[in-house]
Amino acid sequence: MASVITLDGPGGAGKGTISQIIAATLGWHLLDSGALYRLTALAAERHQVAFDDEAELANIARQLDVAFLPGAENEPVRVMLEGEEVSQAIRTEACGNNASKVAALTAVRDALLQRQRDFNQAPGVVADGRDMGTVVFTDAPLKIYLTASAEERATRRVKQLQAAGIDAKFQAILSEIQSRDGRDMNRAVAPLKPADDAIMLDTTEMTIPEVVTYILDQAKAKA
Ligand code: C5P
Repeated sequence: MASVITLDGPGGAGKGTISQIIAATLGWHLLDSGALYRLTALAAERHQVAFDDEAELANIARQLDVAFLPGAENEPVRVMLEGEEVSQAIRTEACGNNASKVAALTAVRDALLQRQRDFNQAPGVVADGRDMGTVVFTDAPLKIYLTASAEERATRRVKQLQAAGIDAKFQAILSEIQSRDGRDMNRAVAPLKPADDAIMLDTTEMTIPEVVTYILDQAKAKA
């Protein structure tokens, strides 16, 4: 029986990096659910589907031809869309914003639901997203809700983008983060919110190793 750790929270709270480290440490699978919404947005753009055409976007989501290939040692997973590497293309702020538009549509979320649940395979999965604990893996034995102030998240995002060679300005990133938070928290379907049984973790003042140690300790306590 596989086990599940869910990590939900707003963008830039460190979920991506932390989920990767925890999955690698435990030898578990990793579900980057945000990547699926980003890939849906990118595929829609490439196939010239409008971001308000719910039925067609759901088709795109259902038929998404994607692969997550292991990266070289200590390198992130390589993301492929229709046979082409899009690891960088899906990480832009524009793609993140488009992802949050398509993610607000019920038919798109429904189309991606089973694909996400299929990641739950032995020995376990670390699931990173917005609704992992509230919708996708409601029975997960360990649910974490990670957050940090918008300013701290913007600072982290700027550093992350610059490290990837992408030009980034603090003010622009901060206002994008705030508008994306608003859209994710206020949408009608699967809004971003902690599950009732989630552990709340504010990482504003925490380092990545501190957060990882905390979560691994919680995981051991549940084992
Ligand atoms: O986590 P990431 O920034 O890659 O997610 C991009 C967007 O996809 C989020 O802003 C959110 O709107 C959407 N998303 C979602 N549900 C998830 C994961 C991501 O709605 N489980």
